[in-house]
Amino acid sequence: MKVTVANQKNLQVVGNLLSAARDWHLATTPEVWPVFPLEAISRDIAEERVYLFSIDSIYVATVTITETDPLIWDGSEDPAFYIHKLATRRDYAGQGLGATILEWIKGHALRSQKKFLRLDTWATNARLKKYYEKQGFAHIRTKSFPVDSPLPDHYRGASMNLFEMALVEDVLYQMRRELSYGL
Ligand SMILES: CC(C)(COP(=O)(O)OP(=O)(O)OC[C@H]1O[C@@H](n2cnc3c(N)ncnc32)[C@H](O)[C@@H]1OP(=O)(O)O)[C@@H](O)C(=O)NCCC(=O)NCCS
Repeated sequence: MKVTVANQKNLQVVGNLLSAARDWHLATTPEVWPVFPLEAISRDIAEERVYLFSIDSIYVATVTITETDPLIWDGSEDPAFYIHKLATRRDYAGQGLGATILEWIKGHALRSQKKFLRLDTWATNARLKKYYEKQGFAHIRTKSFPVDSPLPDHYRGASMNLFEMALVEDVLYQMRRELSYGL
């Protein structure tokens, strides 16, 4: 699988991968991503946060990675990669593409001196919880967002599961984290 940083020429490809994943997801649960406006994806592409994965020149997956996510992770400044909008093509499902992509993100994070991978999903989605726990993420907590949250629509009034993967053994970090989460 080849990894590239998406450019503006890939805007529609990324939009299509996200829409197709949303359509499939919508068939199983009403709590899904919104249709992401192309302008918003374009802004992420301009920030070089969007990645595309291809097999035999076919784009099969995308992910958006940020280095902060203060509104969801309470202003945390921990060295982390935040994983958003991970989506694989349905006709490539069941082959472990997601796991391969997460492995790549892990390597990228370590090379970038990060100590954690983090992401959030809907608290009602037990299958996704199971999926991410199987990939080595720990469920840190469930967080509810007020209806007037400044976050995008799909967070307003929703409860989300926050997941984290510690990439390096670091006792001090671990203790600080446990204290801040009240674990
Ligand atoms: C999550 C995802 C990237 C994983 O890709 P993958 O490694 O190729 O794995 P698969 O697509 O084969 O899915 C693995 C399992 O997770 C389940 N799953 C995946 N996305 C799910 C979702 N949004 N809701 C519920 N279950 C989901 C699949 O049904 C499958 O379950 P099974 O093993 O019981 O059959 C991919 O399934 C996807 O694009 N999902 C839709 C978009 C999405 O939900 N992204 C994550 C948002 S946090």
